[in-house]
Amino acid sequence: MEDQADILQPLPDALDSASAELASGRLVAFPTETVYGLGASALIDEAVAAIFEAKGRPHFNPLIVHVPDSGTAAQHTVFDARATLLAEAFWPGGLTLVLPRRADTPISLLVSAGLDTMAVRCPAHRVAHDLLKRAGPLAAPSANVSGKLSPTQAAHVAASLGTGRGHLAMVLDGGECAIGLESTVIGLPLDGPATLLRPGAVPRKDVEAVLGYALAQAESTDQDEESTQGRSSPGQLASHYAPDAPIALNVTQFDENDVVLAFGAEGSSLPHGSLNLSPTGNLREAAAHLFSMLRALDGVAKGRRIAVMPIPHEGLGEAINDRLSRAAAPRP
Ligand code: TXA
Ligand code: MG
Repeated sequence: MEDQADILQPLPDALDSASAELASGRLVAFPTETVYGLGASALIDEAVAAIFEAKGRPHFNPLIVHVPDSGTAAQHTVFDARATLLAEAFWPGGLTLVLPRRADTPISLLVSAGLDTMAVRCPAHRVAHDLLKRAGPLAAPSANVSGKLSPTQAAHVAASLGTGRGHLAMVLDGGECAIGLESTVIGLPLDGPATLLRPGAVPRKDVEAVLGYALAQAESTDQDEESTQGRSSPGQLASHYAPDAPIALNVTQFDENDVVLAFGAEGSSLPHGSLNLSPTGNLREAAAHLFSMLRALDGVAKGRRIAVMPIPHEGLGEAINDRLSRAAAPRP
């Protein structure tokens, strides 16, 4: 029999053990007023990688960081006057703000899928709030397998993610989600207009009434991470962080000038300054290191190419290779 994740009532003991599981890098599904979230500590790269693994996503999309209050959001993002205005009006609640990451934030780069921005939301559900108070910021997409409907009951989550997916420690039962529709996502770039990135729980006109002007429209309105044409979602193309250095994939013979992004056993000696995504060939560990190592190598490349060793095209390897091939694609 495959194991089914336990569904627990959100009593203090269960919240304590949920926090302990999250601190040790495991996943906990929890209720919010919009939909159930598949939560991981936003500070632990490997826990965030486990989210992508559990959802069976072929690519990395940026995730929402859930916080207990706007003060916590402001520790990790550049929380400008517009953000403050919107948070005062709609938090806690179904509004997500995409803001520049603070340079010194310890939040996983994988949460942002390599972008310089981070999505933050303070949910209104009491169970979510109690959990966030104990466990700290949680990265959480909707708690469904990629491509399936978002869950609004604990039993939906257990049915979708509970079997044979060993990372899910438990599902906290908060009853039926009051809203049942994902949060509205608003982008607030430093020097650009407030933009509607995904329609959702908070109507656009309510946001515009608070701001006092109309929201800009995202270039692509296909912002649903479950979309099968996911290539146009924000984590996918143009806005993505691309290294300055040229990238070569599936390299097995290195030049002495290469900076190498290795994977698995290295065999002979690699050029000085090379980094290894996972010396043991563990794809979850590799996913956890991908964006930080790409950035680090880009910082030392100085005109040389980043040569990436072959990565198996299975499990999270598919998402890693997707990201790498976009990073290696010809640039405008
Ligand atoms: O109601 C909700 O928002 C639920 C609950 C669990 O909070 N969460 C949710 O997460 O729907 P997810 O991962 O299924 O959708 C997150 C959305 C995606 O459309 C994603 O592209 C966008 O937010 N997003 C996240 N970070 C972003 C970023 N840095 N830039 C642009 N879009 C971002
Ligand atoms: Mg979703």
